[in-house]
Amino acid sequence: MCGIVGILGRDAVAADIVDALKRLEYRGYDSAGIATVQDGHLDRRRAEGKLRNLEALLNEAPLVGRTGIGHTRWATHGPPTERNAHPHMTDGVSVVHNGIIENFRELKDELTASGTTFSTDTDTEVVAHLITRERNTGASPVDAVHATLKRLEGAFALAIVFAGEDNLMIGARNGPPLAVGHGTGEMYLGSDAVALAPFTDTITYLDDGDWVILTRDSMDVRDAEGNAVERAVTKSVASALMVDKGNHRHFMIKEIYEQPEVISHTLSHYLDFAKGEVRDLSGSIDFSKISRVTISACGTAYYAGMIAKYWFEKYARLPVDVDVASEMRYREAPMEDGGLTIVVSQSGETADTLAALRYAKGEGQKIASVVNVRESTIARESDVILPTLAGPEIGVASTKAFTCQLSVLAALTLLAGKQRGRIDATQERRLVEALSEVPRHITTILKDEAPYEALAQDLSRARDVLYLGRGINFPIAMEGALKLKEISYIHAEGYAAGELKHGPIALIDENVPVIVVAPDDDLFDKTISNVQEVAARGGRIVFISETDAERAGCPIAASLPVPKCDSFVGPLIYTVPVQLLAYHTAVFMGTDVDQPRNLAKSVTVE
Ligand code: M6R
Repeated sequence: MCGIVGILGRDAVAADIVDALKRLEYRGYDSAGIATVQDGHLDRRRAEGKLRNLEALLNEAPLVGRTGIGHTRWATHGPPTERNAHPHMTDGVSVVHNGIIENFRELKDELTASGTTFSTDTDTEVVAHLITRERNTGASPVDAVHATLKRLEGAFALAIVFAGEDNLMIGARNGPPLAVGHGTGEMYLGSDAVALAPFTDTITYLDDGDWVILTRDSMDVRDAEGNAVERAVTKSVASALMVDKGNHRHFMIKEIYEQPEVISHTLSHYLDFAKGEVRDLSGSIDFSKISRVTISACGTAYYAGMIAKYWFEKYARLPVDVDVASEMRYREAPMEDGGLTIVVSQSGETADTLAALRYAKGEGQKIASVVNVRESTIARESDVILPTLAGPEIGVASTKAFTCQLSVLAALTLLAGKQRGRIDATQERRLVEALSEVPRHITTILKDEAPYEALAQDLSRARDVLYLGRGINFPIAMEGALKLKEISYIHAEGYAAGELKHGPIALIDENVPVIVVAPDDDLFDKTISNVQEVAARGGRIVFISETDAERAGCPIAASLPVPKCDSFVGPLIYTVPVQLLAYHTAVFMGTDVDQPRNLAKSVTVE
């Protein structure tokens, strides 16, 4: 899941390619590179690590040329070294690639046997050599690419330029997204419209199997067989503005602080606070006619789906299956015809979630997507789009997108409960009011970060951390553990509190912090029993609760107070302490909070 860009420009393009790559760095930041066509020859610059390293290199050794391609990498095949950085090239062809060429070993063996020498460990390099081999037999660039595409299996978005061809660029899409940008006497390719936003808002999205031949003033889209096909030209609303950190040290903490505002914004879209009612923005979904809902997503978005299961089942009496998308796509689960599948995704480009969506569609399901990026592939392939209004989320660790996903799913629960006759007007008003108070409660938590900073020093020394929660707050325990893992690199696990005694309690000793999410709800006493089991074995308890830590009836190492709230909205409120705890621990440890190692914001490979 890398970011790719290509420009057929009127002037030198390297600086614009860097600008576009900055907008794609969320897709990976292991290495970056650019190749241009200069005086008929191909030249490239590549650098390991973040884009700033490539920028520094370009300052020392600029690239000229009006035709070029660029790449920001999340390594799949081969370590993240300069050698493996894209673009990959031969004397005649240069290629950038997002995705995985699954049959690259077989292709590499075939090419090696016929005398080709490889200089990288990547799967992508076979594409450059296959095109070159075709060119060497006299094929035109277009025919060479067409013949090569027929040999490739797997997922790919490609941008290709050629020595001696200053007015030609070819793109191809099979899986990962690829957009064409139309300029005036200029043409662009990009992994998304956001990357192209500084240059144009006129966009054509390629369909799966499409490939496109671009010159500065023409676009020729072909299907897999090589037939010309029409694809719509649309107006993108992607902003050309780059989001900055404002007064904050990291995007993650800025985004944590934005939550009261963006949750409020999202809730107002779905709820009429004045009337105390949920608005029906679900399009054609009629929950009274649905007997089962399937939810699928990955990572943090999956935890939002888990919470929705508790909500839908309790308040709407509607059974829900929740599946990690990478499992659902291959499980061949039978699905009720006419059923509803909800996919949840911040980026709207997560490959596994997209595949789960397509599987569910194939099973006759109506698809609703809870997405933050409205122009994403997942949004475009859904029957109903339920947007989160979180604004751009830059930090790799998802924060505000998650609480906005919860806001949408809570509103949808109210709608489902109402349509199914399980929520009456009085209850609806009470639950809408509880939701309206969420931004205020989060603001209260954010007023005092000192306890989190103090605890961070302690947590930073831990090798393992356990998070416990019960019922609807069990997914919050998992979300807390995921946040800590991904940005501080400390091993953490989230467990259902009642499950502890079935194994993980063996881990407990005085070195293992146990973070307990303990709202004052009808499961509080049960949770406390589990806390006491931990205390009896010397575990160090961190107590996150709206109630007095003394009620735990055992020694508490630290207490993180939360405002009193309706248990319906508990997951929205209790998320914030686990976010802050992970954030301050990572800051104390000095990790790269916004771009942690090995991760990417948008996971477009499986
Ligand atoms: O863009 P998506 O919401 O589909 O992304 C899903 C996960 O990759 C994402 O939530 C990931 O787990 C985050 N890094 C967690 O903070």
